[in-house]
Amino acid sequence: MTTGYLALIIFVAILAQVSLIMMVGLYRRRREFKKSADESACETGQNNDHNAALRNEDVERKGFREFIVKRRQIEDAQASICSFYLTPVDGEPLPQYKPGQFLTFKLLIPDSVAGQEKTIIRCYSLSDSYHPDYYRVSIKRVPSPANRPELSPGVSSNYFHDHVVEGTRLQIRAPSGHFHLIEEEALPVVLIGGGIGITPMLSILNTLLESGSQREIWLFYGVRNSSELVMQEHLHPLAKVHSHFHLHYCFSDPAVQEIEGIDYQHRGRVDISLLRTTLGLQRYQFYICGPKPMMETLVPGLLELGVQSGDVYYESFGPATLVKQDRVKTEASRSIDKDITVTFSKSGKKISWDQDAGSLLEFAEAQGIDVESGCRAGSCGGCQTILESGEVEYNQQADADVEPGHCLLCITRPINNLTLAA
Ligand SMILES: Cc1cc2nc3c(=O)[nH]c(=O)nc-3n(C[C@H](O)[C@H](O)[C@H](O)COP(=O)(O)OP(=O)(O)OC[C@H]3O[C@@H](n4cnc5c(N)ncnc54)[C@H](O)[C@@H]3O)c2cc1C
Ligand code: FES
Repeated sequence: MTTGYLALIIFVAILAQVSLIMMVGLYRRRREFKKSADESACETGQNNDHNAALRNEDVERKGFREFIVKRRQIEDAQASICSFYLTPVDGEPLPQYKPGQFLTFKLLIPDSVAGQEKTIIRCYSLSDSYHPDYYRVSIKRVPSPANRPELSPGVSSNYFHDHVVEGTRLQIRAPSGHFHLIEEEALPVVLIGGGIGITPMLSILNTLLESGSQREIWLFYGVRNSSELVMQEHLHPLAKVHSHFHLHYCFSDPAVQEIEGIDYQHRGRVDISLLRTTLGLQRYQFYICGPKPMMETLVPGLLELGVQSGDVYYESFGPATLVKQDRVKTEASRSIDKDITVTFSKSGKKISWDQDAGSLLEFAEAQGIDVESGCRAGSCGGCQTILESGEVEYNQQADADVEPGHCLLCITRPINNLTLAA
């Protein structure tokens, strides 16, 4: 055998080994993604099981799959909302999801201050019915707060608008979330979307209409005026074709040329008196997603009207504004120690708990402890931290699954002395 021939055999053997390792790696990642999708698809709207989850560090590795942006589409007249059509790089069919669920993105974003990239975790609702070959999300560009123009605008949303283009590759975790259409009981549905809160409603609406369901559907869509509406050319024809779909635009600040009854149905915000006068006296399932004031008035308002709490489903896109009392994991009756010390073992800090702190996440940030976070609403799992000792109470049900021995800092407070691996 010549030296050249021997070298060729060695080269082919190495190539075969590398290919095998890559294929096994790809297979494992796909299996992980599918497993987390399957787990999420099996959940029910009232699921309180915090098990089988991803550790904070594992979020970096587990369950993420690579997608490529196939198409971008600006959806509103102000060009502030953009849809992204995402297809898996491996070309395999996508796992099913329930309309209303969201995707979790892991982004590597250049940090101009630190001069390096930082990892950002954010959730975005699926905004269409299920398609085996693509997912769609629709993202609103978030500016600096009107009263704090010196602050930098929203990191992730602006990154999507400015840098995510056709061909960009993204790391995405399987669909999840407890806010989704309940199909077991086929009641008429009332979808209420305020601003960008329309996205999960679009997914529910499209799913119901495409499936041929005859459930009566009401969509109350609250915006300032038509410049903020998304997908009008999609919604109008649907309302014309399907007599059981009732589309109601509610404009809080209509433009001068916009006429009530033609361009929009109601002047003002979506409120309880509008729902009371528009909807008949029967049982509905209500699905609500919108800004803080909308959620804070509509959810308690519906309950006061006598709607059963089990018929009202809602989701917040930001830090929780409404505590889902009936879904809280830790018993409210649990006595909470008066003087609590929180120890951050990695940072080597031992600090007295501040009863006014909203959550362990806020507390840690205020103390300058370096902790990860994303949604700040119990959805993305980004703040999951090992609880080395002590107990916490949840102020709302977590959407992310929490591994035993861990807690979500953004929606918990300590019950007694704690040690966190942070
Ligand atoms: C389950 C779920 C589903 C969601 N679905 C959607 C969806 O379909 N579409 C969508 O567009 N969004 C959705 N969101 C919201 C989304 O995840 C992000 O929260 C949103 O895009 C803002 O993220 P950002 O990184 O752009 O902004 P961030 O960087 O988080 O900033 C948010 C705001 O804080 C301001 N800010 C910056 N620094 C400070 C500071 N020091 N103090 C105070 N304020 C500061 C920023 O200027 C900005 O106004 C969803 C959220 C959840 C939890
Ligand atoms: S920051 Fe998303 S779960 Fe806590």
